[in-house]
Amino acid sequence: MSILANGNIYILETKNTHYVVGIDRHGYAHRLHWGAKCPITDYDFPRGVNENATIPELDSCRLEYTPFGKTMYRECAIKASFADGCREINPEAVGAKATDDTLSLTFRDEYYPLSYTLQYRVYEGFDIITRTVTVTNHGTDDIHFEKLMSAEIALPGTKPFHIMNTNGAWGAEGTPTNTLLDGGELVFESRRGHSGHNMSPYFIAYRNADERSGEVFYAHLAWSGSFRIEVSRDLFGVTRAELGMNSFDFEHVLEGGESFTAPAVILGRGIGFGDMSRQLNRFGVQHVLPKNFADKPLPVLYNSWEATEFDVNVTDQTALAVKAAAAGCELFVMDDGWFGARNTDHAGLGDWFVNKEKFPNGLGELIQNVNELGMDFGLWVEPEMVNPDSDLFRAHPDWAYHYPTRKANEIRWQLVLNMTKPEVQAYIFDCLDTLLRENNIKYIKWDMNRPFSETGGENLAHPKMLWYYHTKAVYDIVDRLKAAHPEVQFESCSSGGGRCDWGALYHYDQVWTSDNTDAIDRIVIQKAYGLTHPIKTMRAWVTDINWYNRNTPLAFRFNIAMRGALSLGGNLKHYSDEDIALCRHYTDLYKSVRNTVQFGDLYRLLDIDEDEIAADLYVSSGKTEAVLFIASVNTRCMKKPQPLYFDGLEDDRIYTFDIEDQHVEKSGAYLKNVGLPLDIKKQYYNQVIVIKAK
Ligand code: DGJ
Repeated sequence: MSILANGNIYILETKNTHYVVGIDRHGYAHRLHWGAKCPITDYDFPRGVNENATIPELDSCRLEYTPFGKTMYRECAIKASFADGCREINPEAVGAKATDDTLSLTFRDEYYPLSYTLQYRVYEGFDIITRTVTVTNHGTDDIHFEKLMSAEIALPGTKPFHIMNTNGAWGAEGTPTNTLLDGGELVFESRRGHSGHNMSPYFIAYRNADERSGEVFYAHLAWSGSFRIEVSRDLFGVTRAELGMNSFDFEHVLEGGESFTAPAVILGRGIGFGDMSRQLNRFGVQHVLPKNFADKPLPVLYNSWEATEFDVNVTDQTALAVKAAAAGCELFVMDDGWFGARNTDHAGLGDWFVNKEKFPNGLGELIQNVNELGMDFGLWVEPEMVNPDSDLFRAHPDWAYHYPTRKANEIRWQLVLNMTKPEVQAYIFDCLDTLLRENNIKYIKWDMNRPFSETGGENLAHPKMLWYYHTKAVYDIVDRLKAAHPEVQFESCSSGGGRCDWGALYHYDQVWTSDNTDAIDRIVIQKAYGLTHPIKTMRAWVTDINWYNRNTPLAFRFNIAMRGALSLGGNLKHYSDEDIALCRHYTDLYKSVRNTVQFGDLYRLLDIDEDEIAADLYVSSGKTEAVLFIASVNTRCMKKPQPLYFDGLEDDRIYTFDIEDQHVEKSGAYLKNVGLPLDIKKQYYNQVIVIKAK
């Protein structure tokens, strides 16, 4: 794995892939190839198209980073205006630096004191590259950027691609879309200040791919704020994507001497969706997640939200904790309601001080009870928000985003704090730092329950930079808290899965994927998350939710939640001894296979939508152990038996396991090629099967 060079052509060599960039004689960086490896001396520049009055040759190029200007009319990656009003960038290549695993290509405007550097990094053992761009103002006058994308990516070939993204919602995060892009442009974006529940900050492009076959090209923007992914197919058949911070209501100003690095992009190529997701899974654990917990298995967590909502106090929480400990939980998390005048969602946000009526002796008493039960303690906060009915807002009404001439709209009776103000950042850091210093807290759930509106930013010289500064402030505070309290895990939550993105994964140890904890809906939500993010970061709760009167059996709910970071969230006070014993059975079972689930490779064998069965096989890194989860909701008379073809096991090894009343001892090759017949004759069929190599 390395950066190879052949003259002015650079080959980024990853495990099975070459990503090739060449600088032409005019100084443009062309993407010459992205696919299977070829002899490096063969790579060359393509022949240009025949220009005519309406088709400029420059507009057909697969550039690495298109500036606005000249005769290029497609979407650009960067657009800036200079002090004299010129709004075009004419880049010249001024330097290329390669190390074993990094490449930097620097371009400078031929007239103005602006340079930008495209940085690439390859990773041993992966077909993944990360990219960033750094812009520098070498002069003294401000340079204003209207668009500053993190990467432009041109795809190979000219046939149309299917583009996968999401059209989700609260409670339906990750609902997939697969759109054939044969012309025009697709835009996936958030304008809300967080990455949101609807569209996702990535593109996945494929032609004829499935779990096991077909080339899949993908790129993720590591950013939790407003984003924009533009994917277009032009008149030459070229499909391109730009990924970056949303250029809607956007401005970024570089003062003289300043540099700025845009959020990173993680891009890769896989053979089939399975390979794509397994690479991202391992890459996330090895290279992205914060180091303190990346290689540690996450604990089985209990969360009080669905059981008690805002009605928390030391007695009831202790009673829940007793049951949670008996059920096998290792971390007890008290959710909303513990602070200020927080008895409903109408009041209290911002007042991060323990409610003395609910906890007369502070949090210490509950934490001690929880610790004595053998569990760690965790706490919920929503630091970016304020209720107008709070002491914080009464003292600092100007701390919330607003325009002086407009009424700021409340959502869930709350406003968004102006996180670009140093005094707001200091207040939040101090409140959380004090809580963590004074209490034995091992986990923080950082929530964010509404999008931005009335984003005044009156304190900023360039108010539209607020979109960037806000998210950056969130990351900075989390990073500082983690540095000061390295034993504390952080979870990213935003009204369910409103901040499930690779930006969050660089700072948080796990994420909350959805408030919808219905096990059947969850199969689809979790599939979408696991397809594109590391499995261990996917918090998955077993709860009592029963929106559709499905009365899903407890064992079935465990089967689904054990496929991620298992957690419990039901009202355990209503659980019988048998229920608690069943919980204990499954939490013990989970702990025995947790390393394989959280650090292994996931093979999706059967799909709930296509096959009516959700069968996921997690294989340990040495392929000595695997765990198979099978769940099916319905069945019917004469339903055809499904063969279950395994994957990911070693062909020549013998694997043993029990399924129903059958003891199986078969080779990996047999399980893959002949498979096991699955004849499901039961509603809510579910099996958790532990597989060992002999
Ligand atoms: C939204 C989160 O997604 C829930 O899990 C819970 O923490 C509530 N907020 C609390 O207000």
